[in-house]
Amino acid sequence: MKKKALYAGSFDPFTNGHLDIVKRALSIFDEIYIVIAVSPSKKAFLERPLRKELLQKIFADEPRIKVDTWDGLLVDYARENEIKSIVRGLRPTGDFEFEFQMASMNRKLNSECETVFFATGEKLYYISSTLVREVFNHGGDISEFVPKIVQEEMEKKRSS
Ligand code: COA
Repeated sequence: MKKKALYAGSFDPFTNGHLDIVKRALSIFDEIYIVIAVSPSKKAFLERPLRKELLQKIFADEPRIKVDTWDGLLVDYARENEIKSIVRGLRPTGDFEFEFQMASMNRKLNSECETVFFATGEKLYYISSTLVREVFNHGGDISEFVPKIVQEEMEKKRSS
């Protein structure tokens, strides 16, 4: 049986920090479902269909990655797709308490699903999608922080 994992987030935008987690998770799991989920408090910067398209392009040569969107609870997505693991990146920037809380809630809602944490890479631990957007909006260089295709799409948005 394939070992499947779910990696969810807003990915607005998907960063090299997220990419690092996905690559490392691929060394453990047979299939990763990258799911663009809804974070109720966040207003979209890149539209969700565009985020999905970008992720599909980034992983076009990696058949073990599935890209999807989901409006409901993560644990329900996991149940529907027979996924038993939720992958999360853990940064040393205050993630722990919230992550612990989410992992506990998700386990309460679906006891068959475990959360697996990856310590974020030491080169990228400080980035977040919000910070990338902020640097970008002030004209800073984001090439180190996001895949090239994401940067290009963000630049298109600026010039439109
Ligand atoms: N590298 C770089 N940045 C990272 C990162 C990494 N490895 N890991 C996380 N981040 C950033 C994210 O980009 C995000 O940045 P932002 O706040 O500026 O947008 C921030 O850290 C927080 O990430 P995350 O906790 O994954 O938030 P999110 O908004 O991307 O995703 C969901 C949250 C979608 C996973 C969560 O709301 C969810 O599960 N929703 C579905 C509904 C549900 O099941 N709710 C019950 C949960 S118990």
